[in-house]
Amino acid sequence: MKTITSSASAKVILFGEHAVVYGKPALAMPISSLRSYVSITEHKDQALRIIAEDLQETYSIRTIEPTETNESGLVKIVKYTLNELAYTQPPKININIHSEIPIASGLGSGASISTAIARTLSTYTDRVISDERLNQLVYEVEKLYHGSPSGIDNTVIVYERPVFFQQGQPLQPLHILRPLYFIIANTGIPAPTREAVNDVRQLVLNTPEKTNMILERIGEISMQARQELMEGDEESLGRLMQENHNLLRRLTVSSVQLDTLVDAAIHAGAYGSKMSGGGRGGNMIALVDESRREAVEQALYAAGAKRVIGTRLK
Ligand code: PMV
Repeated sequence: MKTITSSASAKVILFGEHAVVYGKPALAMPISSLRSYVSITEHKDQALRIIAEDLQETYSIRTIEPTETNESGLVKIVKYTLNELAYTQPPKININIHSEIPIASGLGSGASISTAIARTLSTYTDRVISDERLNQLVYEVEKLYHGSPSGIDNTVIVYERPVFFQQGQPLQPLHILRPLYFIIANTGIPAPTREAVNDVRQLVLNTPEKTNMILERIGEISMQARQELMEGDEESLGRLMQENHNLLRRLTVSSVQLDTLVDAAIHAGAYGSKMSGGGRGGNMIALVDESRREAVEQALYAAGAKRVIGTRLK
């Protein structure tokens, strides 16, 4: 009996979250050291089984047609992929999912698991799904989790490289003069991306002039940050992170815990820091010189971070 395994990375947004939903550019990078893993084993029973131990979810699939409107994202990605691979019946397999990525924390756990499932199924079947097509399939499932996602999460995870992302534009890789070190700290509070995105939409409707100016400025910050990454200017990048964070606060998507961690990183010597992703909970990110790494990590834990990870952008 063959066993096939595959994996996909987590991701973090560097600049431009929320504004990216309104067509502004945003920057994101994969976290290749934090992954979700999927393995497929064959069995002799009738149904295809999805076993997600960490999520405490198990599903049996007997048909690849949609059976209900609110099917789980895990079931959806399996069905979409089987359709794509020209199956008419689900194969007799177990799909085992294991993820190191905390859920609902803005690190792309859903998109990562979807990507790993689709990849493992295509390897199992010996048929290739192009990254472009895979990106579309994962995006369809992201809609289920987030409502009207920009597509940045699935894009950075499927291609697993740093991206300058703008809706409807061809993918642009990020050029980085020299490696930069980032620390990501989790508040331990679930991040309700859908709610935060809806609240920003309300702001756009209720106070369009003020809100659009904020979104516009966030888009400009992403453009400037792309330039600073090419020039390797950490000080300027740090300042842009601070400004981006303050604008996100004005969009009401930060929180006391996120602000506390952002301040703690700065006081411990980070070049800059900001919340990352949907906000309210989830993660913040700080740009640090590697010599300040331990000091910033300790300061973040002391300020209440539940988990701190470091990652290099290169
Ligand atoms: O999935 P999260 O929490 O990293 O948020 C994604 C970023 C948003 O801009 C808030 C939403 C989107 O669809 O781009």
